[in-house]
Amino acid sequence: MKVLYSAEDIAGKVQEIATEINRLCPERPLILLGVLKGSLHFVSDLARALEGDVRIDFIQPKSYEGTKTSGIVQLKKDHDVNIEGKDVIIVEDIVDTGLTLTYLVELLSTRRPKSLRVASLLRKPDAAIHPAQIDFVGFDIANEFVVGYGLDHDERYRSLPFIAVLQSSDQTDS
Ligand code: IMP
Repeated sequence: MKVLYSAEDIAGKVQEIATEINRLCPERPLILLGVLKGSLHFVSDLARALEGDVRIDFIQPKSYEGTKTSGIVQLKKDHDVNIEGKDVIIVEDIVDTGLTLTYLVELLSTRRPKSLRVASLLRKPDAAIHPAQIDFVGFDIANEFVVGYGLDHDERYRSLPFIAVLQSSDQTDS
């Protein structure tokens, strides 16, 4: 496994993103909609780095099986809070093809939030198929499969404090 970003790199980047959000989105309350499960650490760290009345909820699209996308997005869990008339940021772990984000933005827009923005810790520009606007991006990475800091491969590696590129020998269960 090749470490791409250490825990310190990630903490510094989360703080940078929080500073940008505090500057560009001063409206409060601010609702963070974390996209489960991959954003679990990011949404938690980001919320604690933001100022003022920040609220947290979660939404869960059906995710990858293995390293291949199914091409279809379904919702497993909807958010609980009413977002109508509220300032909302979708908090993603990674935007790969953009399919999931496009689906979420379309869905959540119909619920008439006052504003809807997107923060993603990682983005793979070379994998983009569905163009989706991302307001706050942490790191642009190559088109490789990464794990750690919430990102998994078949539920493994989410608890790693760093982000690493998964090599083929790491993909078998042991
Ligand atoms: P997209 O719909 O193709 O943009 O994929 C978005 C979702 O796929 C993310 O929220 C992740 O759950 C998953 N995903 C995409 N790339 C990776 C990766 O490199 N590692 C782990 N999960 C990934």
